Amino acid sequence: MTKIGIIGGSGLDDPQLLQNAHDLDVDTIYGKPSAPLKVGTIEGKDVVLLARHGREHTVPPTFVNYRANIQALKDAGCTLILATTACGSLREEIDRGHLVILDQFIDFTRRRPVSFYEEFEPHGAVHTGMADPFDDNLRSLFNDACKSLDITHHETGTVITIEGSRFSTRAESNMFRMWGADVINMSVAPECILANEAGIPYAAVAMSTDYDCWKTDEAPVTWDDILEVFKGNVEKVTSLIVEVIKNID
Ligand code: ADE
Repeated sequence: MTKIGIIGGSGLDDPQLLQNAHDLDVDTIYGKPSAPLKVGTIEGKDVVLLARHGREHTVPPTFVNYRANIQALKDAGCTLILATTACGSLREEIDRGHLVILDQFIDFTRRRPVSFYEEFEPHGAVHTGMADPFDDNLRSLFNDACKSLDITHHETGTVITIEGSRFSTRAESNMFRMWGADVINMSVAPECILANEAGIPYAAVAMSTDYDCWKTDEAPVTWDDILEVFKGNVEKVTSLIVEVIKNID
């Protein structure tokens, strides 16, 4: 049976989304997830919501236990994962408030566990394919829902995930643009990798909140700027998630 895992990024993890909700305080073989799971329904479908950075936003990107988060959703029986994230834009045409339905990532993280497999069984090597890491069916549902809700969005986009918690230098930001990245964030790469390893279809919608620091005609991004744009656009993402869930079989 379908059970939908939602991983809510900064500002996009409102537990009010769910009906008949209760908390589940869980532990996994990789430790505790960022927060208790919020279990309930949306549009009559079983949903498990997890706040990626904790309910009070206390867990910085480097210290999120991504393995525990994915394992907790797997243990809870989730059969697919919808993730939300804020991102910086590396392209003029991706303006503040636009949504991007990610289809590729570049992993520029440095100090996070990026695999469930710390040791192989003898002759049991596991090297997970990652050519197309975001699930196509879920991406189509996101894109169709954006269209029916008339939300300005980009049907594809490559995200580069940096280690953080600092923002990028101008040299880095320009390099990422040359590499072909469209948006930048601090969380998608290991999460998406681990969902693939766990065999759970995963898709992510990224809300553009700033232009990072590559643009010379405006001041570099600050956390306050990001929060401001969140506040103005959060409803778009929550209504999108509800619309997608409506259309999941
Ligand atoms: N999340 C939102 N904006 C970002 C940026 N400019 N860099 C990294 N992560 C972000």
